[in-house]
Amino acid sequence: MDMMLLVQGACCSNQWLAAVLLSLCCLLPSCLPAGQSMDFPGAAVDNLVVRKGDTAVLRCYLEDGASKGAWLNRSSIIFAGGDKWSVDPRVSIATANKREYSLQIQDVDVTDDGPYTCSVQTQHTPRTMQVHLTVQVSPKISRISTDIVVNEGSNVTLICLATGKPEPSISWRHISPSAKPFENGQYLDIYGITRDQAGEYECSAENDASVPDVKKVKVTVNFAPTIQELKSSGVMLGGNGLIRCESAGVPAPVFEWYKGERKLINGKHGITIKNYSTRSLLTVTNVTEEHFGNYTCVAANKLGVTNASLPLNRSLPDRREGNYLPVSYVKLSLVEPKIWKPHAKGLEAHRKVWKC
Ligand SMILES: *[C@@H]1O[C@H](CO)[C@@H](O)[C@H](O)[C@H]1NC(C)=O
Ligand SMILES: *[C@@H]1O[C@H](CO)[C@@H](O)[C@H](O)[C@H]1NC(C)=O
Ligand SMILES: *[C@@H]1O[C@H](CO)[C@@H](O)[C@H](O)[C@H]1NC(C)=O
Ligand SMILES: *[C@@H]1O[C@H](CO)[C@@H](O)[C@H](O)[C@H]1NC(C)=O
Ligand SMILES: *[C@@H]1O[C@H](CO)[C@@H](O)[C@H](O)[C@H]1NC(C)=O
Ligand SMILES: *[C@@H]1O[C@H](CO)[C@@H](O)[C@H](O)[C@H]1NC(C)=O
Ligand SMILES: *[C@@H]1O[C@H](CO)[C@@H](O)[C@H](O)[C@H]1NC(C)=O
Repeated sequence: MDMMLLVQGACCSNQWLAAVLLSLCCLLPSCLPAGQSMDFPGAAVDNLVVRKGDTAVLRCYLEDGASKGAWLNRSSIIFAGGDKWSVDPRVSIATANKREYSLQIQDVDVTDDGPYTCSVQTQHTPRTMQVHLTVQVSPKISRISTDIVVNEGSNVTLICLATGKPEPSISWRHISPSAKPFENGQYLDIYGITRDQAGEYECSAENDASVPDVKKVKVTVNFAPTIQELKSSGVMLGGNGLIRCESAGVPAPVFEWYKGERKLINGKHGITIKNYSTRSLLTVTNVTEEHFGNYTCVAANKLGVTNASLPLNRSLPDRREGNYLPVSYVKLSLVEPKIWKPHAKGLEAHRKVWKC
């Protein structure tokens, strides 16, 4: 009770400050016997959650215009009355009105996290309020595996590391094509990867502070080519023949064509070869006797080579309506389109065939 007397008689002097500090001391963990809680009459505890970089306002109100307050950060004084003890330029007292004695902290950082105490001296009893400032940090992926290229059957480990407060939880998802989720964690292990597991993997880091941070890794799975389809249509002498070879393989296969043992070259002997990423088209223009026979499509990449063969057969002209006719045949039989309106182009083309 000595302290109270001191307070009453020493407002606005250094003694007043000493009193404040003494009363605050009672709040500090170091003053308390081990294990004892800090509850005592008049103490209010509040929680304030702010994001790093934001401005925090820790509310505190004085009794009336005459009472005095002080703010502490753990055990160090920040403000005593109107005197700023802290050298930190980010802290100030917010006073919207005569009673308000709130502590404002700009550009809050994680080091500001912790208990703050506002002590208000009144005529009778000191009133103390504690605010626990919790600083949250948005999740941020700090490191993620770079895009990788592996062979089918390899073991793959993808890594995703993230920072944030609270500690972000990390999850993985296979975006294309399966959208399959995986167990949560920084590491994603894929044993014996298959071609279906190729594509983009998305790492998502989440916490309460903000929206998740998301980043992607592309996994390319190489595999040896296979020939999916090899097709030809029968062709007449003088007509155009087409053989189509479809192959799957990563990297995209390189195609070659053979007739028997002879390698075919684009532009030679009436043969045109056009390759696209997964297919190769062989066209024979003005088919002669020598063009009939066995063709082989070879698809190769660095992981392997495969081939498939089929014959280019002779077909007899077939003039029945509705039957498929080779392109060259259609061309020869074109009739001048007179009655068809220009806007009906698709229909017009269709009709030409029917008139043959
Ligand atoms: C509070 O104290 C901690 C260390 O005790 C310090 O790092 C931080 O900057 C202080 N914050 C304010 C707002 O005074
Ligand atoms: C992949 O991992 C499994 C289990 O750890 C192991 O038995 C296997 O040899 C590994 N395969 C390759 C290609 O490294
Ligand atoms: C494309 O076809 C040509 C023949 O015209 C062949 O020499 C070449 O290797 C093929 N390229 C690819 C990528 O398949
Ligand atoms: C098709 O080949 C025959 C025989 O080789 C030739 O007489 C004819 O002119 C060729 N036709 C065309 C359109 O190239
Ligand atoms: C076509 O050629 C391939 C490769 O040269 C051969 O394996 C296959 O037996 C041949 N097929 C026919 C019908 O001659
Ligand atoms: C096609 O494959 C067979 C068996 O793998 C091989 O013996 C043959 O030489 C290949 N043909 C070509 C034209 O590559
Ligand atoms: C080509 O003719 C042979 C023998 O007549 C037949 O077995 C084969 O199916 C035909 N192939 C195609 C692609 O028309």
